[in-house]
Amino acid sequence: MFTTMLTSALRILLTRSFQPFVFEKDSRDFLDYENLKNLGLYVHIPFCRSLCNFCPYVKELYNKEKALLYKEALLAEINLVCHGLTAPKTVTSLYFGGGTPALMAEHLGEIINKLKDYFIITGGIGLELHPDDIDVETLERIKAAGVNMVSIGIQSFDAGCLDRIGRKSDNFQEKIRLVKSMGFSVVDVDLIFAIPGQNEEILFNDIKTAFECGATQVSTYPFIDFSFASNEAPPLSQRVKKKMLKSLVRVSKKLDLERTSVWTFAKKGTDKYSSVTRDNFLGFGPSATTLLQDTFKINTFSTEAYIRSLWENRSPTALTLDFTLRQRAAYCLFWSAYGLQLNRENFRQVTGKTIEDVFGFEILLSRMLGLLKKNPSGYTLTERAGCLYHKIEQVYTKAYIDKTWAAAKQEDFPDRVILK
Ligand SMILES: C[S@@+](CC[C@H](N)C(=O)[O-])C[C@H]1O[C@@H](n2cnc3c(N)ncnc32)[C@H](O)[C@@H]1O
Ligand code: SF4
Repeated sequence: MFTTMLTSALRILLTRSFQPFVFEKDSRDFLDYENLKNLGLYVHIPFCRSLCNFCPYVKELYNKEKALLYKEALLAEINLVCHGLTAPKTVTSLYFGGGTPALMAEHLGEIINKLKDYFIITGGIGLELHPDDIDVETLERIKAAGVNMVSIGIQSFDAGCLDRIGRKSDNFQEKIRLVKSMGFSVVDVDLIFAIPGQNEEILFNDIKTAFECGATQVSTYPFIDFSFASNEAPPLSQRVKKKMLKSLVRVSKKLDLERTSVWTFAKKGTDKYSSVTRDNFLGFGPSATTLLQDTFKINTFSTEAYIRSLWENRSPTALTLDFTLRQRAAYCLFWSAYGLQLNRENFRQVTGKTIEDVFGFEILLSRMLGLLKKNPSGYTLTERAGCLYHKIEQVYTKAYIDKTWAAAKQEDFPDRVILK
């Protein structure tokens, strides 16, 4: 109830409209992105060796034959989305997420080459690694395919915490050191905080250990209990989560780290693994989202329906939202705020307006409340704002992402999802 009220109030305030976000069944296959700047690419690999109870992502157990069919579908989707390009398009980055993308290591080169038929990738190529993927042969394979940034799903170095979320400890420290020794330019370690039984000492040790083993960045996600997950014990309370985040910020200062988003901390001067903060992106694979100037679309969550659609040369898009200008601006503001920076030029490129024209009132109020500080390129969120965002992001995850994903997991092509 409180969640719906908060999301509705913020949506109405930021979009200056009572109109909710409406996703409709719409499988359009023409996407207008040829002239967009700051475009990123995302490829979803929906296979895992075993399935974790807490995980909300689209995934299923790995099967070699299905993975082969899936690869063919992926190549077909890339052709379908990109065949209209008149010239190779420059993109900032390519990220492989999942699931467990390294399970398709043997196909990565072919997928990347297909994308390179259409795109010039100027930034890096990133890939999520499960600790079980980490051995010399797999790392050499993904490197040879062009991957130079990795994100390792450690979750915690503490055996008790791992046990409580159904994961196993497995020489994590040596594994991270091995990844580091192979020369990847970015080594991100994913940690979860507010796991039942976790305390600040364990969390401090988790973050310290990650950097000692060679991580260039740590992503610390608050444990979220999705409605369709089957967690045995719920996350620690919001009050403890907030305390833990504050202590993470303190620790990051002690370790002289740069806070690069609400939940990420990096060694100063290193490149960043950041798959969610592009202005525009094209997503391929089941559940992958695509964000363009005025369109947000989501592919079907079913791997079978995805493969079937592409076999029949149809778009696997399940839901599409056509943004109003203010909705697009609110989306841009929300994700820029996640990165703790509101960049004036960036906002203008996405919306065609100045940030002060669109959100002058909110900016003034936030500055008065000590949430924003002006800087030469825009505004920086203060630590207080970071804490508030941490809370709001979780509320939105439950109200919007959980609701949309639950609907998309139930039906391959739902009729409509309304987010209030
Ligand atoms: C696709 S998963 C990781 C890749 C790889 N399959 C693995 O398990 O190591 C991406 C990350 O999301 C985070 N994550 C997944 N479910 C979460 C949840 N319920 N709450 C908070 N973070 C979560 C985890 O840190 C995880 O490493
Ligand atoms: S956390 Fe990783 S390994 Fe576990 S189910 Fe999710 S994607 Fe698969």
